[in-house]
Amino acid sequence: MILRFLPALFIIPACSLLPASKNEREHYFLTQVKPVFQQHCLACHNGVQPVPALNLSSKATAFKLSASGRDYILPGDPDCSLLISAVQRGGTHPKMMPRTEVSLTEDQIGMLREWIEDGAYWPEGEIGRLKPRKSGEIP
Ligand code: HEC
Repeated sequence: MILRFLPALFIIPACSLLPASKNEREHYFLTQVKPVFQQHCLACHNGVQPVPALNLSSKATAFKLSASGRDYILPGDPDCSLLISAVQRGGTHPKMMPRTEVSLTEDQIGMLREWIEDGAYWPEGEIGRLKPRKSGEIP
């Protein structure tokens, strides 16, 4: 019985970890967001392959609108961010992302939601440039 309440306990500490300063936001992006995008999304969403508009290889490309004029990433509003709806669609949805046999974990989705809620900080320059990585590679 008590197990049913455990997930709530994990959510509270996660929320209190929301980054605050620019340095903390940069650290959060580099250690949490970037590795997930590089490992799970960049193989396709890199602007090279003829995969749809979303190109996650830099801040400038990632914040462009979709063909239908929607935000992939709307800072402050994960529920209106197409990227979030794509990764958290039920596992059977034909447009579920990533388009591979592995879905993101609840923790990874929660992390992306928090990142967007907190303003979706994405550094400029070389550190903000993303490339495809396989698991195990150092980001
Ligand atoms: C194996 C290739 C592949 C991977 C990996 C992949 N995608 Fe996609 N993605 C696609 C293709 C193809 C489309 C367009 C066709 C479609 O909508 O199904 C797409 C479409 C999308 C869209 C637009 C969906 C919509 O509703 O219009 C979003 C947002 C998206 N991907 C996000 C992501 C994110 C975030 C990741 C990583 C967690 C990811 N994708 C990983 C191939 C991929």
